[in-house]
Amino acid sequence: MTAELIDGVQMSLAVRAEVAQRTAALRAAGIQPGLAVLLVGEDSASHVYVRKKVKACEEVGVRSILEQHDASISEEALLARVKAFNQDEAIHGILVQLPLPAHIDPQTVIKAISPAKDVDGFHIVNAGALLTGTEGFSPCTPTGCMRMLDAIGYELRGKHAVVLGRSNIVGKPMAIMLLSRGATVTICHRATPDIGVVTRQADIVVAAAGKARLLRGDMIKPGAVIIDVGMNRTEAGLCGDVDFESAKAVAGWITPVPGGVGPMTIAMLLANTVTSAEQIAL
Ligand code: GUN
Repeated sequence: MTAELIDGVQMSLAVRAEVAQRTAALRAAGIQPGLAVLLVGEDSASHVYVRKKVKACEEVGVRSILEQHDASISEEALLARVKAFNQDEAIHGILVQLPLPAHIDPQTVIKAISPAKDVDGFHIVNAGALLTGTEGFSPCTPTGCMRMLDAIGYELRGKHAVVLGRSNIVGKPMAIMLLSRGATVTICHRATPDIGVVTRQADIVVAAAGKARLLRGDMIKPGAVIIDVGMNRTEAGLCGDVDFESAKAVAGWITPVPGGVGPMTIAMLLANTVTSAEQIAL
């Protein structure tokens, strides 16, 4: 068997077209959606991600402000910038790119973002909304993964979904989203003794552990759906958390890296920013 590819680029174009239409409607009403992006330090992957986000904004008519700060910025100074954007009526979304330097507590910074402008969905108010099934902003990467599962018409109810990784950004919210759609969910992480025993029972695996080629074909149930969130820079180049070649031979569906989850993450950020502008301005 060779798995069918889930084309994140193609799917993200459909989301972007929808976003561009909503942006045009807002602009016709005299409102331009605005996103403030705060980037601290020199993390090269963060610079690449942020550049992609800013470019995507431009392409759909969202105004973006990229504010770069030296790694030595104090937590107080960064909090002051976040608070200034909270007050700025032209800004509808605020994104602080993670990771932050060790002397800055990410939770303190995220807590300072107005929940109404938290288009990353990281604020505890939005995290709580997701947990309780209440309206709020959902984190972009897991939301993008759900859109991909929906786009292939996959019924989650009654299925066993396994999430690799327990981060606040992907693993935990992903598990909640799958659970809320009726899947039986298992989360594996660093301390799980043998993840293959678990993943071989999975109808769906979302790999978000941040470990190159963690999930191999021999750990996958034939026909399973494999969503690869990983973006690992190795000597052999960029690779996901899934060993693509061996996994593709066993899985029913699989996302590539690059060209899978990444473009959908960006598309969901645009969608959240436009939603925020609609909620604040209309
Ligand atoms: N770092 C890695 N992924 C993300 C993301 O989705 N948002 C932010 N703010 N930082 C990240």
